[in-house]
Amino acid sequence: MSILLTGGAGFIGSHTAVELINAGYDVIIADNLSNSNEKVIDRIKMITNRRPKFYKIDVSEVEELCKIFDENDITGVIHFAGFKCVPESTKVPLKYYRNNLDTTLSLLEVMSKYKCNSIVFSSSATVYGDKNPVPFEENMPVGGATNAYGKTKLMIEEILKDIAMSSKDFSAVLLRYFNPIGAHPSGLIGESPDGIPNNLMPYVTQTAIGVRKFLTIYGTDYNTHDGTGVRDYIHVVDLAKGHVAAIKYATEHTGVEAINLGTGKGSSVWDVIHAFEKANGVKVPVQIGERRPGDIDECYASVYKAAELLNWRAKLSLEDMCRDSWNWQKNNPKGYESIWQYKNKWENVKSGYLVAFYIKYFIIYFLIHIFLLLKLYFQVAYLVEQAKTKTREFGAFKEINDNYPKYILSLDRANFSEDGIIHKNIIEWLLDI
Ligand code: UFG
Repeated sequence: MSILLTGGAGFIGSHTAVELINAGYDVIIADNLSNSNEKVIDRIKMITNRRPKFYKIDVSEVEELCKIFDENDITGVIHFAGFKCVPESTKVPLKYYRNNLDTTLSLLEVMSKYKCNSIVFSSSATVYGDKNPVPFEENMPVGGATNAYGKTKLMIEEILKDIAMSSKDFSAVLLRYFNPIGAHPSGLIGESPDGIPNNLMPYVTQTAIGVRKFLTIYGTDYNTHDGTGVRDYIHVVDLAKGHVAAIKYATEHTGVEAINLGTGKGSSVWDVIHAFEKANGVKVPVQIGERRPGDIDECYASVYKAAELLNWRAKLSLEDMCRDSWNWQKNNPKGYESIWQYKNKWENVKSGYLVAFYIKYFIIYFLIHIFLLLKLYFQVAYLVEQAKTKTREFGAFKEINDNYPKYILSLDRANFSEDGIIHKNIIEWLLDI
C-alpha cells in the first residue's frame, strides 16, 4: 500500500516515513525542501534499509502532483506540507494563507481527480484557542487562534469537513498535535530548525551544546504549579506511530474525525529543563524573560479518543524525549549539514557512514606512517653512508701517513701544495684504489 507524504522530509514527516516503512507501507515523499533537507531521505534509508520515493515538488503545483499520482498507485495521503512558524505567521500572514491553503486545495483537487479518498491532516492543538479548559477534548469548540498559522489549520479542518459532507467515500483524520519533541533513537533524524529556534526543546539543546548562551524562560507568572507555561510534550516517534494508526483508520473508514495526539500529561518549562539536565547530565544556563505574546497557561490533551478509535497511545516518557533530543543534537551539531555521525552504538550504523569514516581515517593513518618510515629509512641510509665515507677517509689518511714515503715515490701525478698538505683530488684518487 502506497502512502504519499506531502512535506514528508520535515521533522514529523521523516519520523512518520520511518514508522510507515517499518509497518510495511510504501512511502512516497513530496517536498519542496523549503524547510527541510534532502539528506533526510538517505537517513530514512539508513534506518529502515528502504529508500522512500522522493519528488522535489511544490505541492501547490497541480501538474507536478498529477505526475506523482500517474506514476504511483496511492492509497492515502498524509498532508504535512505547510509553513509552521507562529511568530513569522503574525508578521507575514499572507505568505501563510497563500502557501498553506494553496498546497491543500491543489492536493485535494488532485486526490479527487485520482479518486484517492483518504487523508490524514497535520493539524494542531492551537485550534483549541485560549478559552477551553484543559485537558482539551476533541468535541470542544475550536477557534480563537491568535495567529495566521493557527487560522490556516482551522480553515483546512473546515475545508476537509465540507468535502466529507459532500462525498460519502471521503475520509479525513485531523490530527491535532500537541508539542512534538525528541528524535529517532538512532540520532539520524531529528528537528533541524533554520536559524534561531522558536520552540523550547531545540532552544534547550542548542543552549546545552553552547550554540546559544542562555535559554530565556518566557514568563514565570503563569497560573501553573511553578509559574512557567505547561505543555503536553510528546515524543516524535510516538507521534509518528499515531500517524500510522491514523492512515490505517482513514483507509478503513469514511467521514471526518479530529483526534488529539498528546500524552495527556502537562510539563512546565522548568520540568523540561530539569528532566533534560537529569537525563543527560548537562547544565542548561537560563535567564528569566517576559511572557511571549499569545502563550497560554496550560495546554494538554485528552487522549481517550485516540486510544478508542486508533488503538494508539503515547508510550515514551519526558526522559526519553530529553535523551533522544540531546542524542540528535550531539550527533548533528549543525543539523543535517553535520559531516559525521559519532555513533556510540554499532547497531545504529545501518549504512557505511561510520565504516567509511574509519576506512578513510585508516588510509590516511597508513599513508602518513609509510611516509614517516621512508623518511626514517633514507635518513639512516644517509648517516650510514656518511659514517662509511668518514671511516674510509680516516683509513686512507692513516694509510697515507703510514706509507707516506712510498706514495710519494709512486705518485708521478703527485700534486702537493707548497706546505706539503695533500690535495683533495689526491685523496679521492687514493680512496679509489
Ligand atoms: N518557551 C520558553 N522559551 C523558549 C521557547 C519556549 O520559555 O525559548 C516556553 C513557551 O513560553 C511555552 C513552552 O516553552 O510555555 C513551549 O513553547 P513552544 O514554542 O515550544 O511551543 P508552543 O506550545 O508555544 O507551540 C507549539 C507549536 C505550535 C502549536 C502549539 C500547539 O510550536 O505550532 O504548540 O499547542 F500550535
